[in-house]
Amino acid sequence: MLIIFSNILFVKIRERGKMKRKGLYKPTVEDAIEIGGIETLHPGGFALTKRTAELAALREGLKVLDVSSGRGTQSIFYAKKFGVDVTGVDISEEMVKTAADNAEKAGLSHKVQFMLGDSQCLPFEDNTFDVVISCTVGIPDDSQKVLQEMVRVVKPGAGF
Ligand SMILES: C[S@@+](CC[C@H](N)C(=O)[O-])C[C@H]1O[C@@H](n2cnc3c(N)ncnc32)[C@H](O)[C@@H]1O
Repeated sequence: MLIIFSNILFVKIRERGKMKRKGLYKPTVEDAIEIGGIETLHPGGFALTKRTAELAALREGLKVLDVSSGRGTQSIFYAKKFGVDVTGVDISEEMVKTAADNAEKAGLSHKVQFMLGDSQCLPFEDNTFDVVISCTVGIPDDSQKVLQEMVRVVKPGAGF
């Protein structure tokens, strides 16, 4: 399944010829997602995004952190559908810019913001968010640290 998906993605990239212009024939996952225009890239797809929202009981007034937010698809969905205020954090400057553009296009810039940051060292104070979510496939070097960081920034008794 993943191989088929990857092949489709890379054919799409070649068709567009954008990788050639960038001089990249061995794209990173980030290049592939950005240039391929793929909206959701994590196991479980958009169904998992919806499920995480249900499990976290998202509702208006909650402050949500979306770790490794990519193109912002999940963050924007959470804000639009559940009225939560979302901060997305991603290590790629290009992703952060695309996500911010997408939020603006969706008319949700006032509810969703995107920031540059490393999930292994989140740029937030302790106990900042009501809910912390991460739907991703790219696992950073220190996945234990990512979990610790997610726990650190979520308010005690809240969800992640
Ligand atoms: C596979 S994409 C998933 C994006 C989004 N969550 C989705 O499901 O569509 C992985 C994202 O993780 C980001 N990423 C990789 N390492 C990271 C790190 N250490 N800290 C924050 N983001 C990271 C990448 O830039 C990329 O946007």
